[in-house]
Formats: sequence, structure tokens, C-alpha cells
Amino acid sequence: MNKKYVAEPYRIKMVEPIFETTREQRIELLKNAGYNPFSLRSEDVYVDLLTDSGTGAMSQEQWAHMMTADEAYAGSKSFYKLDGVVKHITGYKYFIPAHQGRGAEQIVLPQLVTKKGMYFISNIHFDTTRAHVELAGARAIDCVIEECFQIDLDHPFKGNFDLKKLDEIIIEKGKENIAGIIMTITNNSAGGQPVSFENMVEVQKISKKYGITLLIDGARYAENAFFIKEREKGFSDKSILDIARMTFDLADIFMMSAKKDGLVNMGGIIAIKDNEHLFKLCQTYIVPYEGFPTYGGLSGRDMEALAQGLMEALDMRFLTHRIDQIRYLGDMLKEAGVPIQYPIGGHAVFVDCGKIAPHIPYDQYPALSVTNALYIEAGVRGVEIGSLLLGRDPDTHVNLKSPIEFMRLTIPRRLYTYQHLDVVGKAMIEVFKHRDQLTGYEFSYESPMLRHFTSTFKPVKKG
Ligand code: F0G
Repeated sequence: MNKKYVAEPYRIKMVEPIFETTREQRIELLKNAGYNPFSLRSEDVYVDLLTDSGTGAMSQEQWAHMMTADEAYAGSKSFYKLDGVVKHITGYKYFIPAHQGRGAEQIVLPQLVTKKGMYFISNIHFDTTRAHVELAGARAIDCVIEECFQIDLDHPFKGNFDLKKLDEIIIEKGKENIAGIIMTITNNSAGGQPVSFENMVEVQKISKKYGITLLIDGARYAENAFFIKEREKGFSDKSILDIARMTFDLADIFMMSAKKDGLVNMGGIIAIKDNEHLFKLCQTYIVPYEGFPTYGGLSGRDMEALAQGLMEALDMRFLTHRIDQIRYLGDMLKEAGVPIQYPIGGHAVFVDCGKIAPHIPYDQYPALSVTNALYIEAGVRGVEIGSLLLGRDPDTHVNLKSPIEFMRLTIPRRLYTYQHLDVVGKAMIEVFKHRDQLTGYEFSYESPMLRHFTSTFKPVKKG
């Protein structure tokens, strides 16, 4: 396709107004939010790149199917429709809906923790996954390749597991103490970086060798399949569905935040390949936590929208445009010299704020500083994915240091146009030009868990 003529593969049928604010207003709004962008009201944000989770636009088909939903408490026909779609995509025998990804995590993960002192190993655990691992009484170990942290290094699959390290960790901790291996695809915290099929096959071999359960945390599994198709030998002729199916074949359990590649505003998936005992356990626990197993925290219309959205997310025209939008913003920043994780990942541009503001120590949160400056510049909301998010060691309470201080500019699906991305790019370049003026932040209140969401801050006074 001639690059010059690429545009959004949709027309806009319904519009939601967004509003600009003045710089003076934004300074005040941010102060009132305790310098935590999570506490800003969305109406005070012009372009919201906080997350791609549940923030995308649904299609006319999704909205149409919602009208036909069955809202029965038990045995809804919308459940059976979704059940069919999930089984068609995964090839798994069992499916239970959950209200979102963490709903799935809170049901599945505790079932695998059978005693004290157990571990989960992932390429990188997402924050809520880590939290649920810890709540289940286990510990989370990340095991991604070293190349992941070299942001300028051109590596096609920076989300990959370090296979040697994985093997060593299992031997060191003892295979009987590993509750599960979680393949996070794409690897969100590393920059939406994909995991290669070859790497996943090797992870499966290791899991089989030691008899360890293999899970997929597949919030963005379709984007991962897109990268496999684009970059890995032998996959260019395969469909996204084929690649997804091959990926699911490798694992035992699939947990999904459907708010990403399910193209819905709310939803989650638990799918289990063939372990009937585990399925029965999850079915039992889903009732008090999420709801009856044929709705699991979702309304019938949510399940209708998800059944349709899962299929739309496998469409190559959609995926090509989606990834192109991320690259458009990323290339703009890279050309201006802004340090970003490269190659550009699947759902967001990850800006290396440690490089932008080396004068701010890790425990004064350089990426929060850049995020706040970007909001003040143009009302654009990004999100810190660095030492603030990483939190404290659950045992020693020492402030952990993230290998990279990222700010994530996360692009929702089908929501913004290329012009919105121009605003973001220009504003970020402006912040970059004045990077010497950035200052760090310290806590005025630190919440005890998942502290990035609800803590408040104050700027650290210079000198
Ligand atoms: N796993 C991954 C890889 C995720 O990215 C997320 C959420 C979850 C699990 C939890 O799913 O939000 O539906 O409960 N990620 C969002 C984000 C919140 O902004 O990256 P959830």
C-alpha cells in the first residue's frame, strides 16, 4: 500500500467533544490533583493517553449486538455466543467470563498457589498481576531478556524470556515451588514489546520439562500475533487467528483483560485448555468474587460487545492501522531526538525519562516529572511506568529502582486521529527542549499498595 494514502480505516459516525484548557488552568488542576495525573478529571484532559484499557471506540456492529443481548442471570444466550467465540479463538475447552483482567487474575492465580514460599515467573508481570501474585501469598520474578532494557537496540522481540535465566531460576527456587510461568504478550511494561513464537515454544519446553503450569496473560495477544506475522520467519502467510491459535496451543491457561484486544470498555476472560479440576475450582470461586459463571461480572450486552470485538481485533486492516498510529507518534519523537523504546511497540510509545532528566534521582520519579510537564504543556495525559509504579519490595519495603524510567503514551484503539497524535508529538518535543527545567517529586501521601494510583505528591524544591 502506498504509505502516502494511509488513513483511518473507518468513518466517524458519532462524536464526543473534548476541550482545551489554558496553561494557567492546567497548573492549578494538576496541583489540586496532588500532582498525580490519575487524579485529574478526564474532562480536564485534551488528549488522554493514560491507557489503552477500555478506552477505545466500539464499532457499529458491537453497538448493534448490544441491543440484542440476553440479560438472564443464568444461561444467557449472550454468554453462549461469547463462549463459542473464545473457544474458536483459543481452541480451549473451558471459558469463564470475568469483569476485567484483574478479575481473572484474582480467581486463577490463588488456585495455583498450593503452599507457602511459591513463585510465579513472567517475562515481566504487569502491576495488577504482580499484586495478585503477592495477594495469593506468592512472589513474582521477572525474567525478560537483557536487550529489553537497551532502548536503542534494534531487536524484533524485546519482550522475550531470557531462557537461560528462566531455567536457572527454576533450579534455584526448586520446580515444586514454581506456581506458574506467565507469558505476558505483548510485554506491556517493556514497551508493548512482542514475544516471538520461537521463544514461547522454548518456554513451553521448559515448563513441560519441570511440569510447571504455563499461563498466557494475553491482553494484547492479537498485537503480538501481528508482530510475529510481520517479523518472524515462516509466519507472513499465516492469518492472525492462525498465529493466535498456535500461541494458545502452547499454554494451559489464558487470562485476558479484554479491555485491550477485546475492543470493549469492560471485560475479562478466563480460558482453560483441558484441566477440568481447575475449571471447576474457578467456577466455584468466580461466584462470590465476580458473579455466576455465565456472566462473571459482565452484563449480557458486555458479552455481546466482546464476542464481536474479539473477532474485529483479529482483522489485519485494523491491526495495520493500529500499529501504524503508534509508529507515527514514535517516529515523530525519535526524529526529534526524544529517547524512546525502539522498535516502537504495540500499544504505546515509551519515552525514556531517565535519559531526559538524568538530574532527577529515581526516587524522585523522573517519569512523573515528564508526565506532569506534558500535561501542563498541552493537556496531554501520559502515565509513569517506572520506579513509582514498581513500588517497594514487599518484604523489605525498600523503594525499588526500575531499570528504565518510562513515561507511556498509550494510544486507545480507534479513538484518536493522526492530528491528535501531532498535538502530542509537538508538545512532547517542547517538553524535551526544556528538559533542564524539570524537577522531581516527593510523596505528600503514599498509599500502601499500587501506590501510583492514589498517592499524592509535591514538587521537590531546587537546591
Ligand atoms: N495484564 C496486562 C498485560 C495488562 O496490561 C493489564 C492492564 C492487566 C493484566 C489487568 O487488566 O486492567 O483489565 O484489570 N493494563 C492496563 C494498562 C490497566 O493501562 O496497561 P485489567
